[in-house]
Amino acid sequence: MSEPVLLHTEEGIATLTINRPEVLNALNAELVESLRRHLAILDSDPRARVIILTGAGEKAFIAGADIGAMRDLDPLAARETALLAQEFLNDIERCAKPVIAAVNGYALGGGCELALACDLRVASENASFGQPEINLGIIPGWAGTQRLPRLVGKGRALEMILTGERIDAREAWRIGLVNRVVAPGELMDEARKLALRIAEKSQVAVRLAKEAVINGLEMDERRAGQYEADLFGLCFATRDQKEGMTAFLEKRKAMFQDW
Ligand code: HXC
Repeated sequence: MSEPVLLHTEEGIATLTINRPEVLNALNAELVESLRRHLAILDSDPRARVIILTGAGEKAFIAGADIGAMRDLDPLAARETALLAQEFLNDIERCAKPVIAAVNGYALGGGCELALACDLRVASENASFGQPEINLGIIPGWAGTQRLPRLVGKGRALEMILTGERIDAREAWRIGLVNRVVAPGELMDEARKLALRIAEKSQVAVRLAKEAVINGLEMDERRAGQYEADLFGLCFATRDQKEGMTAFLEKRKAMFQDW
């Protein structure tokens, strides 16, 4: 049997490929568990500076949770499934490394929600996004009702969630759901280029910047500002802050050492 998730690490960029193309990479418990294990390892692996998540094949990023595995769940099991998956998406959001979704096709239901939990989204022109749960008589369960409106606004999120209709990559870009759209053949190159640009920064500053945004969004604005100031202050305890500023003043490229 083939591995449910493939890992390839090169030049500080770890790429995780969801590998169930025969069912358009639909997520079942085994896949989520495997992704979770990989992510936990990469979170503390110094060789991985940025993580890219993508789907195998040319058709789908992830076509959602596996409907066959979900149909006969009782209410408590369905709730448990949603909570477990939400914990996994929270792990992505709280991962110390930036996580980029390289969306190579359908990103539907849980697939769209997984992309939403990533820090950045790069899509190929043939990608599409949707929350089609309403067509199955259910609602999103992997926190799509929360992350989607935060990213694209309440009105656009409700339109996607209430109609279940898909939007194409251009529309996703227009409403701010994805950061950039490229030709299908350029997707992984573009995602890697973006990852490498982040990987060359001070990883302490990258981590603190991510924490300031992710944790700050859960606070009121005043407290979040104070929290940002605390993390800003913490940057001045690092060698990379001295190096970054000295390099600027000496008109040379900074040589960051991640501490
Ligand atoms: C199980 C799936 C699947 C899914 C596709 N497949 N999506 N199996 N779960 N989510 C399977 C099909 O059954 C089919 O298997 C094979 O993948 C290819 O799919 P087709 O439908 O033949 O392809 P196509 O006609 O091109 O249509 C593509 C599609 C369609 C538009 C993406 O497959 C589709 O609508 N899929 C369901 C999308 C969806 O509703 N996702 C949300 C799930 S709910 P066979 O064996 O026939 O070849 C969800 C909730 C999350 O994610 C929260 C839970 C707590």
